[in-house]
Amino acid sequence: MKKYVKKLCVKNVEFLREDYILLRLSDPHDTLPEMLPGQFVQIAVEGSPATFLRRPISINFVDKEKNEFDLLIHAVGDGTRALTRLQEGNTLSCIYPLGNGFRIPPIDEGKKKFLLVGGGVGTAPMLLYGQCLKAAGHEPTFLLGGRSRRDILELERFENIGRTFVTTEDAGMGEKGFVTHHSIWQTETFDSVATCGPKPMMMAVGRMARARQTECFVSLENLMACGVGACLCCVEKTVKGNVCVCTEGPVFNINDLTWE
Ligand SMILES: Cc1cc2nc3c(=O)[nH]c(=O)nc-3n(C[C@H](O)[C@H](O)[C@H](O)COP(=O)(O)OP(=O)(O)OC[C@H]3O[C@@H](n4cnc5c(N)ncnc54)[C@H](O)[C@@H]3O)c2cc1C
Ligand code: FES
Repeated sequence: MKKYVKKLCVKNVEFLREDYILLRLSDPHDTLPEMLPGQFVQIAVEGSPATFLRRPISINFVDKEKNEFDLLIHAVGDGTRALTRLQEGNTLSCIYPLGNGFRIPPIDEGKKKFLLVGGGVGTAPMLLYGQCLKAAGHEPTFLLGGRSRRDILELERFENIGRTFVTTEDAGMGEKGFVTHHSIWQTETFDSVATCGPKPMMMAVGRMARARQTECFVSLENLMACGVGACLCCVEKTVKGNVCVCTEGPVFNINDLTWE
């Protein structure tokens, strides 16, 4: 897929929590390119010498009619904190869409049931995946996990797309425990599972899917610098050898990873 280097325009910055923003971007001059769920944007954080490398952020939601898309950003360090200070009308240098993205099977292969499991900011690409699966005629179901109710973000948007289940470690919302403890694993079967979030969570989800002989795809968030296969800082060991997550991923079939 063709990649673009663009100055995108900030349409809106919404604080969902003191350390989470929903950043809405648009291209004032061109129609946005096709963006697959799981693909990401490399954002230049300007005016900060500590963050001269671009920061990778997943595409969270696309509104083709308005020519806009959203990024869900968790402020964890200098770069992401600087992004929370953006204001409507600012411009942002972006290279996108990068990476491979999740597969959306053609509906003539049959309508399929997907379980999309997200933890923390890893819920971001799951929303777009659900949006695309639903548009293609499939049935996405979401399972979102967090420590407490305040970690469950964009709930209404998930619920607008598909059935949405929640787990929290303190039982403040949904079922108590981790996403792998949710009763849906016992009561339903799915054709495909996809997950993004902390690595231990993704590994546990992968084991759950494997035990049920269900295909499982994960979106890895390895540290990245260039985002285009040049610096080798994002390498992941796979059964086919070492690969760059930024170009060969970030989405992988768990069978291709060397995870136990
Ligand atoms: C493909 C991909 C998609 C991503 N999507 C999103 C997204 O949708 N929303 C979002 O908020 N973040 C996302 N991230 C993570 C985000 O890129 C990092 O949090 C960000 O680069 C940190 O930059 P910083 O300058 O704020 O923090 P730094 O000062 O660079 O780091 C602060 C802390 O965050 C840790 N950190 C840095 N990068 C990562 C990473 N990739 N994963 C885990 N910890 C990291 C550092 O080790 C350090 O402890 C994604 C990462 C990748 C690789
Ligand atoms: S981030 Fe540079 S090779 Fe992947």
